[in-house]
Amino acid sequence: MKTVTVDKNNLEGAAVCLRNGGLVVFPTETVYGLGADASNPQAVENIYKAKGRPSDNPLIVHIANFDDVYKLAREIPDFAAELMERYWPGPLTLIFKKQPHVIDRVTAGLDTVAVRYPSNPIANELIRRSGVFVAAPSANLSGSPSPTVYRHVKADLDGRVDYIVNGEGCEIGLESTVVDASGDFPVILRPGAITLEMLSKVHPGACMDPALLDSDKVEKPKCPGMKYIHYSPKADVIVVCGEKQNRTEYISSQLKANSNAGVMTFCGGEYPDAKCTLSAGNTMQEYGHILFYNLREFDGHGVDTVYAEFEIQDGMGDAVKNRLYKSAGFNIVNV
Ligand code: TXA
Ligand code: MG
Repeated sequence: MKTVTVDKNNLEGAAVCLRNGGLVVFPTETVYGLGADASNPQAVENIYKAKGRPSDNPLIVHIANFDDVYKLAREIPDFAAELMERYWPGPLTLIFKKQPHVIDRVTAGLDTVAVRYPSNPIANELIRRSGVFVAAPSANLSGSPSPTVYRHVKADLDGRVDYIVNGEGCEIGLESTVVDASGDFPVILRPGAITLEMLSKVHPGACMDPALLDSDKVEKPKCPGMKYIHYSPKADVIVVCGEKQNRTEYISSQLKANSNAGVMTFCGGEYPDAKCTLSAGNTMQEYGHILFYNLREFDGHGVDTVYAEFEIQDGMGDAVKNRLYKSAGFNIVNV
């Protein structure tokens, strides 16, 4: 398949392609998405093929008008209406009981549908022009980190999709917060830029899915790399968690024995023995913005191990921790 790249000023061809059942990659404020008409079973099937995605993993339906949520959701509890009011358009995906016409291929046979109204103006313009609701997972090959820049999209999907819309880099860098709004209170299934604290302002019963908390506790599963690896670069990632000085000492000592390792620093730092050093900034927001980008760049440098400095902090901390720990297959050293 020949993949055509267009920019934000040239969306008509990509919009028509979506309407006609094609595959279009587009930027959002979180990560790039790989979109198709959510009402077209063959088009949606092609998303799974292009990504190599397991078919039991449901997709998010993207809308670009507030009221379109009522065409997809059967029941919208009061707390969800308030969340929409506050945080849409934006990096929040809500899961509702679905309308009967929402197809199984999108929901993987579930009775619920995930809906997101992105804030990125290019995404909005594309969805509106296409005239369809757009089912879209992150635009990476299954298993690798979600792409946040055009170059990384192209590396994974060139030749596998009809269009790539080249937008600016993605502002947030981690995927949306996924919240189950099909029950009596909001439950976070995937942490993101809309935090538990922000949800708690709307409903005091807001909580993290217990499965998320459990998996965070598993520091070293028996077969790292088997069950838990997601978002993973080719290099082995080792998270080094603790105070700055301890992190620096530990990583520096490890580097003496490995000349082909990279380091992702947090809050600065020099590692003269590392093959390459990439910064993850000084705040959780900066870390989230650059995490997936850095993981892919380390592969470009050909390192076999990445030591990632980390220290949990407020704000985006839960989201960064979730993605980073998964990318490391829960290979974490506390120092
Ligand atoms: O920021 C984002 O959410 C990006 C951009 C493109 O919008 N999309 C994204 O999609 O990250 P994806 O497919 O990579 O992740 C969607 C997550 C998956 O973990 C999926 O299992 C979950 O949402 N999900 C979708 N529908 C669901 C449902 N009905 N019930 C429970 N989980 C659902
Ligand atoms: Mg994904």
